[in-house]
Amino acid sequence: MLDDIKKLQQNLSEEINEAESTETLEKIRIKYLGKKGLVTKLMRSMGEVPAEQRPEMGQRLNTLKNTAEQLLEEKQEAMKYGAESKRWEDEKIDVTLPGRPFSVGRRHPLSEILQEIEQIFTSMGFKIAEGPDIEHDYYNFEALNIPKEHPARDMQDSYYISSEVLLRTHTSPVQIRTMEAMKGALPVRIIAPGKVYRRDDDVTHSPMFHQVEGLVVDKDISMADLKGTLLLFVQEMFGEGREIRLRPSFFPFTEPSAEVDISCIICDGKGCRVCSETGWLEILGSGMVHPKVLEMSGYDPQKVTGYAFGMGVERIAMLKYGIDDIRLFFNNDMRLLEQY
Ligand code: PHE
Repeated sequence: MLDDIKKLQQNLSEEINEAESTETLEKIRIKYLGKKGLVTKLMRSMGEVPAEQRPEMGQRLNTLKNTAEQLLEEKQEAMKYGAESKRWEDEKIDVTLPGRPFSVGRRHPLSEILQEIEQIFTSMGFKIAEGPDIEHDYYNFEALNIPKEHPARDMQDSYYISSEVLLRTHTSPVQIRTMEAMKGALPVRIIAPGKVYRRDDDVTHSPMFHQVEGLVVDKDISMADLKGTLLLFVQEMFGEGREIRLRPSFFPFTEPSAEVDISCIICDGKGCRVCSETGWLEILGSGMVHPKVLEMSGYDPQKVTGYAFGMGVERIAMLKYGIDDIRLFFNNDMRLLEQY
C-alpha cells in the first residue's frame, strides 16, 4: 500500500504540473479525489490493511489527499493569474512611446515689431499713450486742422458710425488727447501705438492696420530733434548702416511737413525692384506741429514748438521681414506665423 501511495503522489504531481487548462485540472481532481477516484479507492480499502499498519497508512493517505487538494488549488490560482497577466501584457501601455506633441503659441510678427518699436522709443524717454479706436470727428480731423470740407479728408476715407463718430483713420488724434490731458504741462514726449482703419484694400493696404504716432512738445524743439530721433530709431530698427532722408510733404497738422525715407535695406541704396530703383523706402510721415494744432490743444505756439510723426507698423514689418503682401499678417496662416 505504501508503494501505491508513493506512486499516486508522484503521478499526481506530474499530471498537475503538466496540466494547461482548468478543464484538465478538473479531470485530474476527479481521477484522484472523485467518488471513484484513485485516492478515494485507496481510502476505502483501508479495511484490508493489517491493523497495526492502519494508523500510519491512514495518516499517509490523508496527507496525500490534502496535498492533492492543495496542489490543485495552487495550480488553479497560477492559471488564473497567468490569464490575467497575459491580458495585461496584451493591453499594456508602452511607456517608451514618444509623448504627444503640443504646440506652444508665440507672438505675432506684428506684435513682435510693435514691441521692438516701443522698446526703442521708451529707451529714449518716450511714454506710451493710448486713445480709442472709435473716435470723434473732432479728434480725428477738426483738432488736427482738417475742417469739414477739407480735401485731405478724401485721402483718409473711413468707416463712419455716425456723422460725428468714426473708426480713427490714424493715430494722430492721440496727439490731441494727450495735449488736452497734459493741460499745458511740459515736456510732452509720447508714442501712441494702435489700430487704425481706412477704406483701402490691396497688397500693401489693409482696411485695418497699425500705426505708431510720436509727439514731442517742449521749448526749442526743432526739426533737427525730429531728424536725430528718427535716425536713431531707424538705425536701431534696421541696422547701423541705415540712413534717412526727409522729403518735403504736406499734412494739415504739421508745418513744415516731411516724408521720411530710409536707404533701401535690400540694395543698400543702389536701386532695386523693392525701392523702385530709387534706393529709398518711405516709412513715415512727420513734421513740426502746426501752430493752430498747438493752440487748439492748450499750448502757446509763441512759447513752445513740437514735432510729430506717424509710422505704419505693417510697412516696417514688411520691410524688415521681406514680406510682400500685407494680407499675410491677418489671414492666420501658420506657415507664415511660425517663421518669425
Ligand atoms: N497721421 C499721418 C498719416 O496717417 C501721419 C503723420 C503723423 C504725419 C504725424 C505727420 C505727423 O498719414
